[in-house]
Amino acid sequence: MMFTLALFAYLATASAYIWPSPQLDALESLRFPAEFSFIPSFLEPCGTFSSPAGDGDEEISGRSNAADWIRTAYHDMATHNVVDGTGGMDASIRFAEEQARPENAGNGFSNTLSVLTQVSSHNVSVADLLALGLVLAIEKCGGPQIAFRGGRIDAEEPNIPGVPEPQQDLDSHIASFARQGFTKEEMIGLVACGHTFGGVQHDPFPDIVPELNDPHNVESVAHFDSTSTNFDNNIATKYINGTTLNPLVVGTNATTNSDQRIFGSDGNVTMLSFAKSHQHFASTCADLFARMIDTVPSGVQLTEVITPLPVKPELQPLTIDGDILQFAGSIRFWNLTENPDRVVQIIWDDHVGGVHNLTLLPSQERTPSNFMTWYDFGPTEDVEFLSLDATAGITNMQFTLDDKLEDQGGVGFAVQDALVFSTTSCRTSTSPPAAKFDVAVRRGVNVTRMYTEDEVKDATGHGFLVERYSFSPVEPGAATNTPYTFWTANLTQNATSYVTAEIDGAKISVGPIAAFLALPSCPEL
Ligand code: HEM
Ligand SMILES: *[C@@H]1O[C@H](CO)[C@@H](O)[C@H](O)[C@H]1NC(C)=O
Ligand SMILES: *[C@@H]1O[C@H](CO)[C@@H](O)[C@H](O)[C@H]1NC(C)=O
Ligand SMILES: *[C@@H]1O[C@H](CO)[C@@H](O)[C@H](O)[C@H]1NC(C)=O
Ligand SMILES: *[C@@H]1O[C@H](CO)[C@@H](O)[C@H](O)[C@H]1NC(C)=O
Ligand SMILES: *[C@@H]1O[C@H](CO)[C@@H](O)[C@H](O)[C@H]1NC(C)=O
Ligand SMILES: *[C@@H]1O[C@H](CO)[C@@H](O)[C@H](O)[C@H]1NC(C)=O
Ligand SMILES: *[C@@H]1O[C@H](CO)[C@@H](O)[C@H](O)[C@H]1NC(C)=O
Ligand SMILES: *[C@@H]1O[C@H](CO)[C@@H](O)[C@H](O)[C@H]1NC(C)=O
Ligand SMILES: *[C@@H]1O[C@H](CO)[C@@H](O)[C@H](O)[C@H]1NC(C)=O
Repeated sequence: MMFTLALFAYLATASAYIWPSPQLDALESLRFPAEFSFIPSFLEPCGTFSSPAGDGDEEISGRSNAADWIRTAYHDMATHNVVDGTGGMDASIRFAEEQARPENAGNGFSNTLSVLTQVSSHNVSVADLLALGLVLAIEKCGGPQIAFRGGRIDAEEPNIPGVPEPQQDLDSHIASFARQGFTKEEMIGLVACGHTFGGVQHDPFPDIVPELNDPHNVESVAHFDSTSTNFDNNIATKYINGTTLNPLVVGTNATTNSDQRIFGSDGNVTMLSFAKSHQHFASTCADLFARMIDTVPSGVQLTEVITPLPVKPELQPLTIDGDILQFAGSIRFWNLTENPDRVVQIIWDDHVGGVHNLTLLPSQERTPSNFMTWYDFGPTEDVEFLSLDATAGITNMQFTLDDKLEDQGGVGFAVQDALVFSTTSCRTSTSPPAAKFDVAVRRGVNVTRMYTEDEVKDATGHGFLVERYSFSPVEPGAATNTPYTFWTANLTQNATSYVTAEIDGAKISVGPIAAFLALPSCPEL
């Protein structure tokens, strides 16, 4: 990805959340993706279209994922009612019943969902992904940076209809946007900001767009402007100039020229201001898009604006091997200036008052990109993990970059070693994959119940966890003075699983469990 240096400048000044947080850690990684990440790959280049039919017309369809994603976010939001707090960004558009309504004509919604629900999970709602899809499409394709919050909740049923349609009159549109929470001027802005991407297709709107018989535009899309895969103010300059080809302005049937009625509804004042200044257009769109994606049903509590964590540990589950805890992973630093002489140290505390340190080395596996630089546990590339004394364990980390201390404002980076994986786990079968899976519990930690949870999705892509296998405590053998006791379960693997333990009424989860095929096979009995 080729983000410009200025792109996240303002984000870098806002305060970040405290690591670790299962939901925010997942959202932050999606919001600030590493190179070659899943979502951005659908926007590279910005005219990319992923035909769900796989019929090979991606290059010549006239369509783009970016346009589909932006329209989908708007249609999901447009059911909002500011008075009773219903509707909004809640992924109700994922229900077939809502997609089948005349106000949601076309297959852009199912296209969008078929891509974005591939990364939904119990940590990340489909609604957050629809908002994020818009943010990344705009930012990646020449637009301004947009403040992104997380925490949207997937609706359990379709919303009341309410998306505006082109044949409706101006008063209906003003009333519709007022219900959604936007003034007439904001309506002009939102429509212009959205319609800088994409266009109107023949298939769902045959009365607006005829068959174009263009081999480079086989889905016959009449684009809103000549730069339909990029964010710019051409939508306004061409309109003001009188040279626009926007099918909702100069369509032959005046009834469906909704953009014409909307753009002219304040005597062209707003559109003129957009045409005069790309900068003004971009900043207006950034504000309106942020408000649009933050339009959620009442009762939904959004997070703070998600900013890149300056320091983000990416740790493997701790694993016990005899008297040793294997501590592995990388530390991701944001926006480090290049400095081969920099000394990066990890300092960690244990349960018995010890303080330890180690110098980290630049990752051998991950080269810096997209403002991210990774350091791994050294001291040499042969060392895959740090060996911690299991009795002492680990409670908290800090990092130093030369003289600069990174400790999240004094709280440090908490590490839980109450529940750890074990090198005694082994594979009992390859096909189907099955294992005897052992989990160790730190002595003094009162586990009342332990089980696996599978990451599953319903037919609409909404992710949640399902409890699956129970663990049983292993009767202690001769050694009762060991720092950990063991629990075990016979697992078969067919979904991403976490191990969850209930401890004094709270839950701790570790995982995901790595592929069983990577485990050693169990010794023959
Ligand atoms: C009165 C309000 C609006 C009306 C009547 C309207 C109407 C339409 C129509 C008829 C299409 C063609 C869809 C297709 O052929 O697939 C379209 C496309 C689109 N609309 Fe709107 N729209 C409105 C507001 C908005 C807003 C507020 C946004 C975003 C903030 C937006 C974003 C888009 C985008 C990105 C496309 C292109 C989709 C594509 O090319 O796949 N629209 N709009
Ligand atoms: C990177 O750091 C520099 C210097 O502190 C700052 O000016 C810039 O805005 C930062 N960029 C990002 C993307 O965080
Ligand atoms: C999702 O949440 C689980 C706990 O429920 C956590 O262990 C896991 O690391 C989270 N996933 C991501 C990608 O952060
Ligand atoms: C509209 O744009 C064309 C081409 O860029 C230009 O030649 C023309 O002068 C413009 N017309 C007006 C009224 O601004
Ligand atoms: C114009 O569009 C409207 C709304 O789609 C339709 O009812 C009407 O028949 C159309 N008029 C003509 C002349 O095609
Ligand atoms: C707005 O501008 C367009 C394009 O120049 C023009 O056709 C239209 O008459 C103007 N509308 C108003 C209300 O001034
Ligand atoms: C790191 O640990 C060593 C002992 O292992 C100690 O001599 C040194 O002072 C420590 N460095 C820091 C910065 O705490
Ligand atoms: C796991 O399977 C083995 C072999 O079938 C059995 O002896 C053992 O009791 C099982 N363990 C648990 C915790 O169910
Ligand atoms: C895994 O397999 C079990 C038993 O065969 C089944 O009940 C469960 O639905 C499967 N889970 C997933 C996520 O496929
Ligand atoms: C462990 O937790 C259970 C349930 O909260 C409680 O009943 C029990 O007394 C606890 N045991 C110890 C040793 O703290």
